[in-house]
Amino acid sequence: MDAIELLLTRQSDSKLTEPGPSPEQLDIIKQAALRVPDHGCIAPWQFILVQGDARIKLGEMYYQCALAEQQSEKVVNRAKDLPLRAPVIIIAIAKYEEHPKVPRIEQIQSAGCSVLAMQQAAFAQGLGGVWRTGYFAQSNAVKQALNLNELDEIVGYLYIGTPAVDCKKSPRHKPESYFTNL
Ligand SMILES: Cc1cc2nc3c(=O)[nH]c(=O)nc-3n(C[C@H](O)[C@H](O)[C@H](O)COP(=O)(O)O)c2cc1C
Repeated sequence: MDAIELLLTRQSDSKLTEPGPSPEQLDIIKQAALRVPDHGCIAPWQFILVQGDARIKLGEMYYQCALAEQQSEKVVNRAKDLPLRAPVIIIAIAKYEEHPKVPRIEQIQSAGCSVLAMQQAAFAQGLGGVWRTGYFAQSNAVKQALNLNELDEIVGYLYIGTPAVDCKKSPRHKPESYFTNL
């Protein structure tokens, strides 16, 4: 797949199954994460790889955090199953540190670019991925369980695997609806 095809056809796949990325594919995904724009070259990122039985551990962590933070029954009941929706999950974190020239939002944007870059790297290699957030990205209990600081931001959980359904999405938006000339 060439770069333009990737940019114009990238899509998310939410139903993911085995196989996950091979070690070689995963290495390319990791390298893509580190190739994103980074104001001040401060590398404000951390990535936590969750695969195999670690997904069960993450689900247990979610469950305990949802209970501790008194989430609804629906959230608590789903917690353990969420990480089992793909063979691999990469938790992308903006490791915020105060900087004279790089405000917090820019550090978060850079980490967000990493999520997209990893999704693109997965897609370009014939895999599927979906960027998820929700309560478990906002929860302070989850941050603590992952040994993160309160100011760190979980920018996303990137689920990666093989698309379970082959469903190509057509373009939804037209440039003329979003681009104007000054
Ligand atoms: C920051 C961010 C958080 C998201 N969180 C979720 C989520 O928690 N659950 C979900 O189903 N989709 C979430 N999405 C949307 C999907 O990742 C995806 O972009 C959307 O389903 C549209 O699919 P497409 O990428 O093929 O256009 C999120 C997207 C972004 C950018």
